[in-house]
Amino acid sequence: MNFVGSHILSVSQFDRRAVERVFDVADQMLPYAHRQLVTRVLEGAILGNMFFEPSTRTRVSFGSAWNLLGGEVRETTEIKASAIAKGESFYDTARVLSGYSDVIVMRHQQEGSVDEFAIASRVPVINGGDGANEHPSQALLDLYTIRKEMTDRGKDIDGLRIALVGDLRYGRAVHSLCKLLSLYSDLHFTLVSPPELSLSKDYIDGIKSAGHEVIESDELHSGIRHADILYVTRTQEERFPSQAEADRYKGLFRLNQSIYTEYCEPNTVIMHPLPRDSRGNANELDNDLNENPNLAIFRQTDNGVLVRMALFALILDVVDKVGATATKVSWYTAKRF
Ligand code: CP
Repeated sequence: MNFVGSHILSVSQFDRRAVERVFDVADQMLPYAHRQLVTRVLEGAILGNMFFEPSTRTRVSFGSAWNLLGGEVRETTEIKASAIAKGESFYDTARVLSGYSDVIVMRHQQEGSVDEFAIASRVPVINGGDGANEHPSQALLDLYTIRKEMTDRGKDIDGLRIALVGDLRYGRAVHSLCKLLSLYSDLHFTLVSPPELSLSKDYIDGIKSAGHEVIESDELHSGIRHADILYVTRTQEERFPSQAEADRYKGLFRLNQSIYTEYCEPNTVIMHPLPRDSRGNANELDNDLNENPNLAIFRQTDNGVLVRMALFALILDVVDKVGATATKVSWYTAKRF
């Protein structure tokens, strides 16, 4: 895969070698993300951070990643604050914004919208999430986290046992992660969801045709028994035809410390793309897990900055130049990592 000048629209663009390249570069970004070194390699460059759907971590971590490389960020945070609300097309919007930016990150509720935008853009476009379709940078940071967590436990991604829990129908992070994991060998997938929110046949066929085992279940306790990774997801209520329908599925699968202790193997890693829905009728990942050392959700969010810095550095061909402008941080830095 040639990263330089490329759009990142789907994880289907990646082979295993390309994934490992992203991870190697992400490792190199640690001293910058950890506020030990400062680089100005992207000084003068502008990121168009175009989010037409709500976001906390994807938007802010893409912006932070760009800033940590020395660049400036311009952003839109909702449709009504952009001229799309006045009927402007993706084509026109992309033509305009690509005149102001060196890279554009875009999120939109419509599947395929980012592809359409990229066709008209004159600069590289990264998919920050298009409807229920894909979320490539989330899957990369999830897989980067899985690799780190497994390495810490003396294991590898090959042979991994993963249980995906919750809304597998509308969860774009799950869709992209399944495709990326399929690049590895001899994986065991347990898909735990209500039948109506199961992973679509196309994704399951893709996993099986890559040689992996797939077991489907609508029962949480048996589904999580033999897993290295539990990947829990929120009911994606914004994708349902009505709130009432979404509410039918909230709270069906709740993981808390007592269920974890009773049914999971010791050291099973708990992941979630976040946001978790902490409201009483949902609460798929209970706060009583917050002190569990195997809860990796905030390690995922920290890793998101590293992976997004790596994508920018690869796309703009500055990997070998990041260190050339590096200086030591001159301010007090809290120990966050
Ligand atoms: N995981 C994720 O996409 O989170 P945000 O919606 O906050 O960006």
